[in-house]
Amino acid sequence: MVELNFLDEKRMKTPIIFTSKFSRNVLGMLGCLWLLSCQSEQKSPSYTIGFSQCITDDSWRQTMQKGMERELSFSPEMHLIMKDAKGNNELQISQIQAFIKDRVDLLIVSPNESKLMTPIIEEAYHTGIPVLIIDRRIQSKEYTAFIGADNTLVGQNAGAYANLLLKGKGNVIAIGSGPQTSPTIDRNAGFMKAIKPYSAIHFLQTLWVDAHFSDSLTTYLKSHQVDLIFAHNDRFALSSYQVCKALGLEKKIKIIGVDGLAGKEEGLDMVQKGMINATVLYPTGGEEAIQLAAQILKKQPFQKENKLFTTVIEPKNVRIMLSQIQKLQEQQRDIERQMLKMQELNAIFSSQRNVLYFTTTLLVIVILLGGFLYYLLREKQQSNAQLALQNQEILKQKDEIEKISNLARQATEDKLRFYSYISHEFRTPLSLILAPSEDLLQRKHFDPKETKYTLQLIHKNANRLLRLVDQLLELRKLDAGKMELALNKQDLVVFVKEIVMDFTLKARKQQVDLQFICALSNLPFWFDSEKLDKVLFNIISNAFKYTPQGGLIHISLLKKSDNIEIIISDNGIGMTAEEKERAFDLFYRGNQNVSFGAGLGLALSREFVSLHQGEITLISEKGKGTTFHIVLPFLSNHTLVETPIEEAYIPSTHWIEDDHVNPFAQEVDVKSLQNTIVLIEDNKELNFFLKEKLCKEYHVVNVETAEKGWKEILDYIPDLIISDVMLPVMDGLALTQKIKEDFRTSHIPVVLLTAKGQMESQIAGTKAGADAYMAKPFNLQLLEEQIKGLLINRDRMRRRFSGEIVNPSQIQKSERKFLLEFELLIEKNIKDSTLSVEKLSQELGMSRVQLFRKISALTNKNVTDYIADYKLLKAKALLKESDKTIAEIAYEIGFNNASYFTTFFKNKTSETPSQFRNS
Ligand code: FRU
Repeated sequence: MVELNFLDEKRMKTPIIFTSKFSRNVLGMLGCLWLLSCQSEQKSPSYTIGFSQCITDDSWRQTMQKGMERELSFSPEMHLIMKDAKGNNELQISQIQAFIKDRVDLLIVSPNESKLMTPIIEEAYHTGIPVLIIDRRIQSKEYTAFIGADNTLVGQNAGAYANLLLKGKGNVIAIGSGPQTSPTIDRNAGFMKAIKPYSAIHFLQTLWVDAHFSDSLTTYLKSHQVDLIFAHNDRFALSSYQVCKALGLEKKIKIIGVDGLAGKEEGLDMVQKGMINATVLYPTGGEEAIQLAAQILKKQPFQKENKLFTTVIEPKNVRIMLSQIQKLQEQQRDIERQMLKMQELNAIFSSQRNVLYFTTTLLVIVILLGGFLYYLLREKQQSNAQLALQNQEILKQKDEIEKISNLARQATEDKLRFYSYISHEFRTPLSLILAPSEDLLQRKHFDPKETKYTLQLIHKNANRLLRLVDQLLELRKLDAGKMELALNKQDLVVFVKEIVMDFTLKARKQQVDLQFICALSNLPFWFDSEKLDKVLFNIISNAFKYTPQGGLIHISLLKKSDNIEIIISDNGIGMTAEEKERAFDLFYRGNQNVSFGAGLGLALSREFVSLHQGEITLISEKGKGTTFHIVLPFLSNHTLVETPIEEAYIPSTHWIEDDHVNPFAQEVDVKSLQNTIVLIEDNKELNFFLKEKLCKEYHVVNVETAEKGWKEILDYIPDLIISDVMLPVMDGLALTQKIKEDFRTSHIPVVLLTAKGQMESQIAGTKAGADAYMAKPFNLQLLEEQIKGLLINRDRMRRRFSGEIVNPSQIQKSERKFLLEFELLIEKNIKDSTLSVEKLSQELGMSRVQLFRKISALTNKNVTDYIADYKLLKAKALLKESDKTIAEIAYEIGFNNASYFTTFFKNKTSETPSQFRNS
């Protein structure tokens, strides 16, 4: 079965493969466009033509096929499906049935045997499929059209030409393919009709071609007189000629064929070569059949019966026929070439058009994508801008939250600090109540004067506590907004003067120039005397606290047009800028070493002054002093509610802290004491109290600041240091660190004594290198035990360095390092006979006394002994481990002569060097 589908062939020319998803999408779009283009190309509908061919294996049928194909190439809308029945009726019937079933648009049939094929063709026709019969007829008119030469006429032409050849006389046989095909029947009938008038021409028989045709014709010719053979096609004519030639009868027997095809050993060729006498032209009608089918399918007018031309081709006209055919063939070839060219051009056009579509589509896609990208970009830009805005907003909010949380944290920290200072402030007076009372309780004998002094100390500190509690309560009242002014009209000059007078004694004791400066003889003024009293008392007390001996404190009172001004100035230690800024801040304590009482007092003072609608400010410079300005307005009459005079506050005699020393202190003989303690405590009472208690057992050097303490430490190189943590300028932690970092003092145990009982302070103290930590209020006995313990440890260490065995972990690394350095120094100078303590202490950057005390504290030896012992050790090593002479060894360890070395050695070991070496 041969299938021809020209459209399909064309459509197969798109072998582009796309793989990616995107490409697939693009391809999809392109495909759509391409299909659209194809659709526009196929404006007319396409047709399927079914062609049932009875046989296909001869050149005549193949020529018919070629003719059809040629014609179809002009009509791409028509699509031919050919089925070969192979000369088999049943097969042809079934193939036609299949075409019917497939609903072909038109059916062309060249029926095998007329009779047998008639019903199926009628059936096809009745189903509505146009049926075109070609070449052979059926026994019915139930078809759409017929095309083919008239076979009766073919037979007649052959008969007429036979008459001519036989000249009216002779025997004739016919050669046919089978008795049931219409050409055989019609051609024989036509032939018979033509020879009928010639009675001397006898038609002997029709021989049927089969596999043994040559043999049967040979046999026949041998047994019969045959003058002419009418072969029903040129192939039979050729076979007949070959048989005749084999029998030597080729000149004698005339042969007429049918078909008249061009080509080697085809009809025309055989006529021209004289192999046969003539051939009757029997056109295949392939082209015409397709043309007719197109007319039918396109509903154009057509003829039902279409007869093709037929004629006899004999030697006379065969040349013309051949040259015409040749011309036709040339033209045909030209047409085919042009067709091919057109096809090529079409293909180029089509591919270019596809490229154009593709490019256009790509362009459209690119533009669309570009647009989409632009849209996305815009969207992104917009959302970015929005995000940036949101970000800004968030950052702003974050900043605000941070600020708020910082403020909150600050407030919390301030509060915590405040409470920690409150407790600190309470602890010092508590210490001075608890320690003396414990002391009293332990006493077995009471000296009346000393007991009175101790009780006074307790009483004073209980008063101080009371004052602190009062201040706290007042602050609470202020906080709760419950504080009100109790106004009275009083003489302000007298009022201020009296307060100043209360400090006279203290000023005298502290050698401070205290003055009240006022040009007015009196100044009646509305004020709350209780509160103003507290304000002035606080500020003046403060001034005393920070003004050194020999300083000045001046209080002035001025009257202005609408207010009065009280100025308190001192030339004390002054404040830093930060301290100044937050001096009135309740929760701020500057360098943290300023007394809480002062801060609390200042905070309260400011509140009291602002209750008077006044203002308190300060001017201060570090190291130069501080001046407070209190400005109080004249309060207008109608705002005032006078408090009855009898309820007015009358300032009581002020309880002014007195820093006097205990007149009963015992003078201690310093020299008789073993251990020296440097005590640093800024609270004078506590300082004094501790000194009193400790001086019975130790030599106590007491100071109030770390700076002074450091000086004393370097002077004395004491055995122990007791220091408060909270000290002005340099605090106890910094001092401890300084002590521990300086090799002159690093060995001295430090006890930190402070009100700060918190764990972090203890950690800081330990980090700084403190050896013990006592939290106020402390137990005096515990402190004494602590001191004892530390001194015992120090003693143990001494023994370790002086050769006794103690736990090495008890010796501090820094001390071992110091001793190592000291020994290295001795080693470096060991040959120097003039090596002295002065020289060594100079090299170590210490004074002679410092070195002496340090070595003695660490080793319980004096420096000279230490050097001597070192030399002895080295001498022993050299005597045992070297071959050096005694004189050489003496020189090696700094002795000018051997005999002096021998004396030294013998004194120390009770052996001479030689005896030692030989032992
Ligand atoms: C080919 C053929 C031709 C003949 C025709 C008759 O098959 O035999 O030679 O002319 O068929 O149908």
